[in-house]
Amino acid sequence: MTARMIMKLRVEAAALSTPKVLHLTLVHPIRPELPAWEPGAHVDLRLPDGKIRQYSLCGDSADRRTYEIAIKREDAGRGASRWAHDALAPGAVAHVSAPRSNFRLQEARRHVFVVGGIGVTPALAMARRLAADGADFTVHFCARSEPEAPLLPELRAVCGDRLQTWFSADGRRFDPQLIGPAHDACLYVCGPQRLLDAVRTAAAELGWPEQRICAEAFQATLDENFKPEPFDATLASTAETLHVPADRSLLEVLRDHGITMPSSCELGVCGSCVCGYTEGVVIHRDAALSVADRQDKIATCVSRARVSVTLDL
Ligand code: FES
Repeated sequence: MTARMIMKLRVEAAALSTPKVLHLTLVHPIRPELPAWEPGAHVDLRLPDGKIRQYSLCGDSADRRTYEIAIKREDAGRGASRWAHDALAPGAVAHVSAPRSNFRLQEARRHVFVVGGIGVTPALAMARRLAADGADFTVHFCARSEPEAPLLPELRAVCGDRLQTWFSADGRRFDPQLIGPAHDACLYVCGPQRLLDAVRTAAAELGWPEQRICAEAFQATLDENFKPEPFDATLASTAETLHVPADRSLLEVLRDHGITMPSSCELGVCGSCVCGYTEGVVIHRDAALSVADRQDKIATCVSRARVSVTLDL
């Protein structure tokens, strides 16, 4: 895997979509076209301290001139969103990677979206493509209230009566059973982990096959009560065994030993640090991998092993 190209893009427009969500339009200062992307793709935004954060592209994938992202200000967060809200005014430069897709539209006769809050961003781009293709789709959009629902006018314009809004402050809470039976549909869920869990539970009760469910978490799921234990990681290619102490991640130990590992969120959300494993009992703590992928893949930034694991490296 290679490092992702970083482009210096200019903020062409910056507007508050809600009091906490900044909607940015980015352009290349010289080139008329940006790298192409598929609806559901995200970009990395590099911060001045070198850290990176990921944001889904929410604009029109047919528009090669601009990228659009929306950033929710998290006052209790680690500072990235506060920096973005304060610094990324029109004319500012944003260091942004080429897009990458972990979350894609699937072949299906019907598409059902359940999105919560800022999780609307990939769904907006996906709905725009589906609408352009004349596809059959429904979007359930959950937020606390209409003024706090990011990108709502844009989503309404794209979806029309295919959009159903659920604002808890108005007493309209989304019932996950509303997704109905699967038939020939694909289900997309993006938002906080509790929404993903509720929809996955309902989908299982309604008989949805796991492979028809695409989920993207917009928050880390890490259990604060988790007590990490040390373990050993063996590299299949060299048989070298590395010790991972309780206070270090597998990702950090791999890097300490000169193994180049990509990463982005380092929260178990994006999937960029994932590698394969062939033996061992893995304690999966990520929100990136599907149940099927967990059989032979591990998110090295957050997941650990019981006693030992053999990595496909
Ligand atoms: S770096 Fe994002 S899941 Fe590990």
